[in-house]
Amino acid sequence: MKYTFPAGFWWGSASSALQTEGESQHGGKSQTTWDVWFARQPWRFHQGIGPDETSTFYQHWQQDIALLKQLNHNSFRTSISWSRLIPDGTGEVNPEAVIFYNTVIDELLAQGITPFITLFHFDMPMVMQEKGGWENRDVVAAFARYADTCFRLFGNRVKHWFTFNEPIVPVEGGYLYDFHYPNVVDFRRAATVAYHTVLAHASAVRLFRAGRYEGEIGIVLNLTPSYPRSDNPADVNAAHCADLLFNRSFLDPVLRGQYPQDLVELLKQYDQLPLCEPGDSALIADGKIDLLGINYYQPRRVKCRDSAVNPDAPFMPEWLFDHYDMPGRQMNPYRGWEIYPPGIYDILTNLRVNYNNPRCFISENGMGVENEARFINNGKINDEYRIDFISNHLAWLHKGISEGCQCLGYHMWTFIDNWSWCNGYKNRYGFVQLDLSTQQRIVKKSGEWFSAVAASNSFDK
Ligand code: BG6
Repeated sequence: MKYTFPAGFWWGSASSALQTEGESQHGGKSQTTWDVWFARQPWRFHQGIGPDETSTFYQHWQQDIALLKQLNHNSFRTSISWSRLIPDGTGEVNPEAVIFYNTVIDELLAQGITPFITLFHFDMPMVMQEKGGWENRDVVAAFARYADTCFRLFGNRVKHWFTFNEPIVPVEGGYLYDFHYPNVVDFRRAATVAYHTVLAHASAVRLFRAGRYEGEIGIVLNLTPSYPRSDNPADVNAAHCADLLFNRSFLDPVLRGQYPQDLVELLKQYDQLPLCEPGDSALIADGKIDLLGINYYQPRRVKCRDSAVNPDAPFMPEWLFDHYDMPGRQMNPYRGWEIYPPGIYDILTNLRVNYNNPRCFISENGMGVENEARFINNGKINDEYRIDFISNHLAWLHKGISEGCQCLGYHMWTFIDNWSWCNGYKNRYGFVQLDLSTQQRIVKKSGEWFSAVAASNSFDK
C-alpha cells in the first residue's frame, strides 16, 4: 500500500542542546544539574560517560546541518541551553551564546530547514537548582524571563516555539523514581514541581502573546496511552488514574486551560495538592497553546492493585495502579520499552474526539538499540528494524490523519546517535552513526530510507 501525506507535512528529527552540543564548560556556559551530578556520581552514568562527550554540535553544526539537508529534513527541533544563554540564570545574556544560536538558526534557514526551538529540555542550570529548582516558585519568573529573552533575540526567525520538552520526566525522574537530579522521592514535592512547571509554561505563553511575536507556541508532551488489563471497573479505574497523573496533568492545562477536576479531587483525597495562589487559574487559562508536540515511545499497561497499600508508607502513584506485563506484547529488548504502533493512532484519536482536534505533530518517536555496530554491512549500519519501527508508526499516524486528525508532521528521535541522560551511548537512536572517538558520521540505512520518504512525502509498505 502507498501512504501519501498531506502537502507541507513536516519531516525531520529532534534533538536537544545538552545531548549534542558538548563544550559544557566553554563558550561562557554555566553548569547544569547534569554536569554537577555527573561530576559527583559518575557511576550513575552508563560506562561513566557524561554530558561533555557528545557529537560536539557546538563545533560541527555546519556539517550536521548539511547532513540534515542530505536527509531531506524540512524541519528540525533542538533546544536552547538556558545555562549557555543566561549563565547565572537571571542576569546578563552571554554574547557567545547569542552568536552560536544565531548562526545555527540562520544556517538552518539558509538550508531550507524550519527551526523548531525548545526552551527547556531537562537541562536546569545548577544556579537555579541551588535556589530550589522547580520547587521554588521564583524559578517560574526566571524561566519566563529566559523565554522572553529567546523570543526577543530569535523570534524574528523562529516561528515554532516549545516551552518544555516532556515536563513530566523531570518530575518523575527527579522527585519520584530517582533517575534525574536531585534524586528526591516525595510525591508532594513532585506535585509542586509539576505545578510550577505548568505556571512557568503559562507565563512564557503570556509573554509570547503580549510581545505579539509572529508564529506559534506550544509544548512537547510524552503521552503514554494507558490501557487497562481488562474491562473490569477496577482495572479501568487504575488506567484512568495513571492517565490523570502522567498525561492529563499537563495535557488538560495546555489544551483546556485548566486541570481535570478528577485529578484535583484525587490529590485532595490523598492530601497531595500543591500550594496555589490567587491568580493561578487565570494564568493557567492563558497558557493554552497553538501547537502540541507529541513524543510517543510506548504505552502504559496497568491493572488494579492486587494487594492493599501500607497506609503508613508515603503516597506514591503506585497506590492507585499496578504495572501490568501484558502477555505477548512486543518489546524493544534493548531499551525495555514496549513497541505498540497503534498507540500513535489512539493518541491522535483521543485528541480529535476529546480535545477539539488540536494542531499537533509527532515530535519524537524512535527506537534505541544497543551495539548497533554488529549490524554493519558494506560500511554502514543496516538498521531494517528501525525502518520497520518508523513505517509501522507512520502507517497508524496516516490512518489518524485520514480520519481527520490535525497531525502536521513527524520528527524522529533522533538525527545522530547522541548522549542520553543516564544512559550515555547505550541505546543508539540516530539516522546517523556517530563514532565517538573520531567524530566520524556515517548515515545508516534508515537515514537513506527516511530521506527518500521525506523527498516523496510518501512511502510504500
Ligand atoms: C525522550 C527525550 O524522553 O526520549 C530524549 O526527550 C531522550 O531526550 C529520548 O533521549 C530517548 O530516551 P533514552 O533515555 O533512551 O535516551
